[in-house]
Amino acid sequence: MSARLEISWDVPAVPGAEDMLQKIAAVCVEAEGISLPVYAQVRVTGDEEIRQINREYRATDRATDVLSFPSTNVTPRRTLGQCEKKLLAERDETGLCFLGDIILSLPRAREQAAEYGHSLQRELGYLTAHALFHLMGYDHMTDQDKERMRAMEEKALNRAGIGRVTDDELIAMAKDALTYSYSPYSHFRVGAALLSKDGRVFKGCNIENGSYGATNCAERTALFKAVSEGAREFTVIAIAAEKSMPWPCGICRQALNEFAPDLRVIVACGDERAEATLPDLLPHGFGPKQGTLDFLAKE
Ligand code: THU
Repeated sequence: MSARLEISWDVPAVPGAEDMLQKIAAVCVEAEGISLPVYAQVRVTGDEEIRQINREYRATDRATDVLSFPSTNVTPRRTLGQCEKKLLAERDETGLCFLGDIILSLPRAREQAAEYGHSLQRELGYLTAHALFHLMGYDHMTDQDKERMRAMEEKALNRAGIGRVTDDELIAMAKDALTYSYSPYSHFRVGAALLSKDGRVFKGCNIENGSYGATNCAERTALFKAVSEGAREFTVIAIAAEKSMPWPCGICRQALNEFAPDLRVIVACGDERAEATLPDLLPHGFGPKQGTLDFLAKE
């Protein structure tokens, strides 16, 4: 089973978006249970272009966030056999079945991402999942149809790692991360789970060192893993330990402040938990918010 998107950009490409959208396609098609290799074309464009397409093909003269044009009229889930038969008719010379076309408006996605407080990547991922389910026959005309489509979208976004994560889930992930702690000197196991704005969670544990000084805390392990995989914005970190509440050390507060000056910080030990914000923990901090990127670069 495989799914591929042919993505073209009329607007400057969004870094990191292509890989994430390919992942979305794979999980959507898998969630639907289609076992044929399929592909869809995605064009990322501007408001004026999507408005023209909307006018031309749907007689609706306004810009919108996403449009989808199925290659064939399939019915979701219940009649998979029939669906695959129809898709087989859309097979090209390479053996892939064409699902249809998707048009996305980048300016609209950007506005909606700001409105919902998540990243542009996550919004593009959501819109692409929505459009892909349309291509696979889903719709939202009735409440029942809408609920069914939303459930599939949520499932796909979760599987792609950009679903919504609750505080409880994040704490559970921090507790899981501490089981990998390398702490033969202190025997103080710590785990962290850092949620990025695009919905990905990065886990880390403390990694001690015989020199003591080269020890890395769980929070920084999670942060450095995240930044080295392209995440730059974060909303919340959960930190768990077994012996006492693991409020982050000064170095970790400073490291987190570089990327997430408004971060929510949740600490947990057993059933006990507490929460603060990074500005509470690092008042009068020194970092990009205070202009370090501007005034240091200008010298
Ligand atoms: N440690 C963390 O990983 N995070 C914290 O918030 C506090 C301390 C680690 C560092 C060291 O491996 C051990 O806990 C004992 O200080």
